[in-house]
Amino acid sequence: MRVSIVGGGYVGLVTGACFSELGHQVTIVEIDPEKIRAINAGSPPIYEEGLEGILKKNAGQNLNAEAGYTSVAEADIVFICVGTPPKPDGSVDLSYIESASSSIGKALQNSEGYCVVVVKSTVPPDTTGTIVRHAVLHASGRTEREIGFAMNPEFLREGRAVADFMKPDRIVIGSSDPRAGHQVERVYDALHAPVIHTKTSAAEMIKYASNAFLATKVSFSNEMGNICKMMGIDVYEVMKGVGLDHRIGPLFLNAGTGFGGSCFPKDVSALVSLAEARGLKPELLQAVLAVNEAQPSRMIEILEKRAGPLDGKQVAVLGLAFKDNTDDIRDSRAIPVIQKLLKIGARISAYDPLAIPQMKKVFPEISYHSTAADALRGADACIVMTEWPEFSRLDREFDLMAHRIIIEGRKILTCKGVEGICW
Ligand SMILES: NC(=O)c1ccc[n+]([C@@H]2O[C@H](COP(=O)([O-])OP(=O)(O)OC[C@H]3O[C@@H](n4cnc5c(N)ncnc54)[C@H](O)[C@@H]3O)[C@@H](O)[C@H]2O)c1
Repeated sequence: MRVSIVGGGYVGLVTGACFSELGHQVTIVEIDPEKIRAINAGSPPIYEEGLEGILKKNAGQNLNAEAGYTSVAEADIVFICVGTPPKPDGSVDLSYIESASSSIGKALQNSEGYCVVVVKSTVPPDTTGTIVRHAVLHASGRTEREIGFAMNPEFLREGRAVADFMKPDRIVIGSSDPRAGHQVERVYDALHAPVIHTKTSAAEMIKYASNAFLATKVSFSNEMGNICKMMGIDVYEVMKGVGLDHRIGPLFLNAGTGFGGSCFPKDVSALVSLAEARGLKPELLQAVLAVNEAQPSRMIEILEKRAGPLDGKQVAVLGLAFKDNTDDIRDSRAIPVIQKLLKIGARISAYDPLAIPQMKKVFPEISYHSTAADALRGADACIVMTEWPEFSRLDREFDLMAHRIIIEGRKILTCKGVEGICW
């Protein structure tokens, strides 16, 4: 099929690359010239396992990136994958969605044949059926007989996005009518996964509900961890025992510094905001966010208890990405921790295998190092913020510190003498 992807970020690029790998003719429409250049050169502008190989194989063949919307006019299916960032009040900024929808509509003005416009971005219920539908139909001057609408939420995990795309747990397709839904199902023909057809608003809500549930599991585990630590109980032993119950499941039960990333914080805030706008008080979701906000401060409290006042002291921060295997730092828990440390006058020496270039844009004033050992040299204390597997092998490197005080926010270290945030 001829597929256009509007927005070549984490979701759009992985989706486009994987569809090209499945044999579709894919064009990524992107506004950032640097990303266009990188994609066409077969060199991913972001790190994702397996992505480079797919790009190198397909770029310039059945995968291309461009700034204009001409490919949309010829497409059988157009995916909207632009960002939906939070506004300061926690609600969703839909301006990128609106602008992409209008541009798609204009591109479809003179085209012939049936095309489906699919929202893959995470958007509040009714966005596809109202904002996107109106903008596309208005700008194109065409009718719903010629243009179908669908919502196909994305569940990929950053760092494992290619594998998740190729082997999804389920494919959710919310559509305005069966023809549109069928066209979306066809593009996934080569994948083997249960397909669920819903209304567009239900598909939109499935994404929010999934992320809210996973975030709830994390905050629940953190609350259990905080209680367990006070009582001298190993929360990891506890949650292992809990997670073996098939009604609960073992994933997302790791206590630590909380959830970050481009999705959980903003999506839970968006859901809270949607509920509040309708006069509801979503107390559980508010508590999920409150527990998450409080965890970084617990790291600092433990650090101060062990190392004394941190003013003027050197703190090594290992791990800047919001999770391992990615260079994404959006809403990383390392950010509030570093902010708090800087505020109390600590000097930071930081290391991350992939995310240093991104974090330099946020904190140009701290010192960055190319190895964990260099960041640890002379440090008065160390905190571990990301579960990078390479950290599990660290031990003698900590001897380079002035004082071997190590506080872990993710349970990854295997050496002795480490204190965990919840264990
Ligand atoms: N990142 C994830 O793990 C993930 C997972 C599931 C769902 N989502 C959702 O997917 C959506 C995209 O997320 P992302 O992480 O890929 O965002 P991103 O910021 O990495 O990518 C968005 C891209 O869209 C481009 N863009 C913006 N306006 C455009 C326009 N008018 N035309 C063409 N390109 C345009 C931007 O330049 C950027 O490259 C969001 O709604 C997000 O919530 C993200």
